[in-house]
Amino acid sequence: MTATGGSAAGPRTVGEIMSHPPVTATPDEPVAVAAERMRTQGVGSVVVVNGERVVGILTERDLVRLAASEPAAASIAEWMTPDPDSVAPDVAVTEAFASLAEHGYRHIPVVDDGRVVGVVSMRDLMRIAQIQPADHLAHDVPRGLEGVVVAETTIGDVRGLEGFYHYRQYNAIDLAETRSLDDVWHLLSEGELPDRAQRERFDAEIRPLREIPPSVKAVLPELALAGEGARPLDMLRTTVSLVGATEGFGPSLDLDAAELRAQALRICAVVPTLLCALYRLQRGEPVVDPHPELGFAANYLYMMTGEVPRPEHARGVEQYMIATIDHGFNASTFTARVITSTGADLAAAVVGAICALSGPLHGGAPSRALDMIEDIGSTDRADSWLRDAVQRGQRLMGFGHRVYKTDDPRNVMLRSVAERLDAPMVDLAKYVEQRAVEILAELKPDRKLYANVELYASIVLNACGVPREMFTPTFTTSRVIGWTAHIREQAADNRLIRPSAQYVGPPPPQPVPPVE
Ligand SMILES: CC(C)(COP(=O)(O)OP(=O)(O)OC[C@H]1O[C@@H](n2cnc3c(N)ncnc32)[C@H](O)[C@@H]1OP(=O)(O)O)[C@@H](O)C(=O)NCCC(=O)NCCS
Repeated sequence: MTATGGSAAGPRTVGEIMSHPPVTATPDEPVAVAAERMRTQGVGSVVVVNGERVVGILTERDLVRLAASEPAAASIAEWMTPDPDSVAPDVAVTEAFASLAEHGYRHIPVVDDGRVVGVVSMRDLMRIAQIQPADHLAHDVPRGLEGVVVAETTIGDVRGLEGFYHYRQYNAIDLAETRSLDDVWHLLSEGELPDRAQRERFDAEIRPLREIPPSVKAVLPELALAGEGARPLDMLRTTVSLVGATEGFGPSLDLDAAELRAQALRICAVVPTLLCALYRLQRGEPVVDPHPELGFAANYLYMMTGEVPRPEHARGVEQYMIATIDHGFNASTFTARVITSTGADLAAAVVGAICALSGPLHGGAPSRALDMIEDIGSTDRADSWLRDAVQRGQRLMGFGHRVYKTDDPRNVMLRSVAERLDAPMVDLAKYVEQRAVEILAELKPDRKLYANVELYASIVLNACGVPREMFTPTFTTSRVIGWTAHIREQAADNRLIRPSAQYVGPPPPQPVPPVE
């Protein structure tokens, strides 16, 4: 694709904001030379040229891929993106922005009459595109807001092409391998990992917050049994509302940062207790109060089953929880921020986020992934089952992701946790994963569909004694830590989130017909 066009008199064009002259390299130069050129010139990419013709682009992202694979004697030709899309200098900034966002590019060469004249980056375009009036942007935004940057955050990010995500400045998987959930909660809440004294203070602050407020506890038995077939997550929405109301959570607009922090800790600490109480009451079992000695995940399993769990099960669930605390601007996190942007109270934002998480395309997938593995039942049935499902247009639960176009790092970690636990069905899950990825590649070429977090989450949670109906609730106990961090960040620097839509109905205005 080469985008061309734009209006000279109208909106700002790529030519006005591009970096020029472009930093270039030739395909036969070593990558190390290009990397040094990027560093000294302070740019994030080099355009690879053969004479005046653009033959590729090498970006920082390619250097990261290279660093992860082998050292740098490689030539640029091996690592660049060949025949990159380009844009003409007279294209409107908003148009170029939409194209970059849609394709996930970060840098794009600017080519005029077959000659490279500059480079434009996503960051340059965004800076300008953001100050265009909304009606310029509305029709440019990709469906599902894919790739659209809507806020700045210091909480974390996902790099889909690299298969990497982080909380603050740390690799989230490293945190899940080495830290406790409370430490990572501290990182998200307080901005840093705790030292010993901070850990003790935080622990002393959050443990009492696990208790359900007495007035809410009193109504739980009726609530739990109110609806035929209601699931713990459905009733959690109601009880989070109740906690907010009984504890006087006011609009976030009227609160200072310390008040909002206290409410965030309260909700995060009490959500696991509420879920386990609802689960047990729905099964006609007595509520188990929090265990004063147990850590987050062990206490969660204890409150659910009434028994102190085996340490390896508590650790497996804890690692799952750490790995799922935050994950960029996923649908539930975005929902929480939208609600907070109206100045609504923290409980309202968490309730909205729970609603978004409950959907099968977001947090509701792990139990369905386990259903699928069980339904397949044995390796010899996998091929026909998977092929048939994809050919009938079904989505394989636990596969595909909006951002990851390679292995989901959470899935990779949880696969090893499942192996460590010698989890039931782990071998079958591994076979299904391998065949599903191959069959999806064959039947849906170019879609880059891999297993996501939910596949082995279901295997790990099942192995640790978490019942299927508590899979998505378990996800909620960790993700609420991420939501509340985002709620506090949004409230600290708020602007109402209010996008636009493109009207595509019958052209207005038409006369209102008389009443018949
Ligand atoms: C996660 C998910 C919602 C992301 O969706 P998305 O970014 O909007 O992707 P799209 O819906 O645009 O899908 C792109 C293509 O891949 C296909 N696809 C995506 N996920 C698929 C899956 N799990 N199984 C089969 N096909 C899938 C779509 O059918 C579509 O194909 P098409 O272009 O031929 O119609 C999607 O992959 C999905 O539904 N996965 C299953 C549910 C799941 O595991 N959710 C947990 C996410 S952590």
